[in-house]
Amino acid sequence: ITKQGLIYTGKAKAMYETNDPEVLWVEYLDQATALNGKRKVAIAQKGLLNNRIASLIFQDLAKHGIANHFITQQSAYVQLVRRVTMIPLETVVRNAASGSFERKFGVDHLRLFKEPVMEFFYKSDQLDDPFINDSQIVALNVASADTLAEMRRQAQLVNHRLQEIFGAMQVQLVDFKIEFGVTTDGKILLADEISPDSCRLVDQTTHESLDKDVFRKSSGDLTQVYTEVLKRLAAVEEEKPCI
Ligand code: C5P
Repeated sequence: ITKQGLIYTGKAKAMYETNDPEVLWVEYLDQATALNGKRKVAIAQKGLLNNRIASLIFQDLAKHGIANHFITQQSAYVQLVRRVTMIPLETVVRNAASGSFERKFGVDHLRLFKEPVMEFFYKSDQLDDPFINDSQIVALNVASADTLAEMRRQAQLVNHRLQEIFGAMQVQLVDFKIEFGVTTDGKILLADEISPDSCRLVDQTTHESLDKDVFRKSSGDLTQVYTEVLKRLAAVEEEKPCI
């Protein structure tokens, strides 16, 4: 596989064509943004850390029956992924109150929910990614009702497995955001990334943030925190099977 033309540069990744039309080359960047890209900072090692974390998570999900776009980790900063047409929605799953939910409803930080909360946001830089409900999604032809149902189904499965993974790391999965695409044969496939950029994670005992909130709130060293997440994840995912 060889890298070819740039498709686009996002907030934390750059995407390239390859010599295989079904395969894309994703470079994770040493860069963090907040406030929808209005604040942009270079951060050493961030791309490498997120690439490794996302690769381990995607591999684990595939092993547990949750298909996704990940093909292989090509190098420290690069992943090869399957080409899909992205659905312009962010699917947010919450197990406890934080972030925009906490602000919107004025509830206690980390208040646990009986059932996970699912929300959709319409991906549009111009509109600042507004909240969008199911009938709005269907009315605007962003996705069909069937597609939405399939996204909800997969998001529940992802939440279930991520809670197991992070639980084994003594980390609470507060909430996360995922994105889906459609394959050339019409399947809804988990895509984009799952990393501390897109998840809210807190240490189960100390409740310290182990995610991008340390950057959003300038409350800690992102590289240090992501290194800690990778260390714990690798201990769970790379342990040798005992036979
Ligand atoms: O800010 P809010 O509470 O709505 O975020 C919910 C979850 O979605 C958080 O884990 C956050 O990291 C993630 N998110 C994201 N990209 C966005 C907005 C939110 O990864 N553009």
